[in-house]
Amino acid sequence: MPKIVIQNLYNKRVATKRHDKKVLDIIHENQIDWMHACGKKGRCTSCKMIVIEGMENLNPLTDREQNYRDLHRLADNERLSCQSTLLKGELVIRVAEKNKFPHMDYSE
Ligand code: FES
Repeated sequence: MPKIVIQNLYNKRVATKRHDKKVLDIIHENQIDWMHACGKKGRCTSCKMIVIEGMENLNPLTDREQNYRDLHRLADNERLSCQSTLLKGELVIRVAEKNKFPHMDYSE
């Protein structure tokens, strides 16, 4: 069962039985607030996640992500959670500092 661990949200763990879900949808289905300024269209980078482990468990970069990578707005260890599908296994991520919400309590 695909699983996500959000390190700087007190290692919050969420899982899904599906193998075709976007990471951001899995996060939202578990009532975790995560920024998505463009409405999950791949047109901003506010939903960016820092991938600590499990990059190989995601779909290849989409054209929109490649575009941001070419513009140096998406580092090699980052993906857009609205464009990334968790195909299998575990994914360990962090919320980027600039995309944290003021009303949320984040850990180290
Ligand atoms: S919500 Fe804008 S790129 Fe993902």
